[in-house]
Amino acid sequence: MELRCRTADVPEGGAFRIAGEGHPPIAVFNAGGTFYAVDDTCTHGEGSLCEGVLEGCVIECPFHSGTFDVRTGEALRYPAFVPLRTYAVRVESETVVVTVK
Ligand code: FES
Repeated sequence: MELRCRTADVPEGGAFRIAGEGHPPIAVFNAGGTFYAVDDTCTHGEGSLCEGVLEGCVIECPFHSGTFDVRTGEALRYPAFVPLRTYAVRVESETVVVTVK
């Protein structure tokens, strides 16, 4: 399955949530002009990572300040320790395409 948003929906340093039908929401991040996609819901709790703060390629959860690398999903800072699921992203013209298996 593929989920899409417009590149304009994801400003540099920002995020956009894609609500997948029958799939947990996906967070798309624009880190320095490169797009990354991970599960939007933090692995520690119910925090929406789209509402967190992105610094470089690191997203800080708005709930308890756990951090993750959006490139790899790696959990970097407690209390987050379970990695995020990551998704393949490609850009077609003005569209960000996320492949969800
Ligand atoms: S819900 Fe994200 S760090 Fe707790």
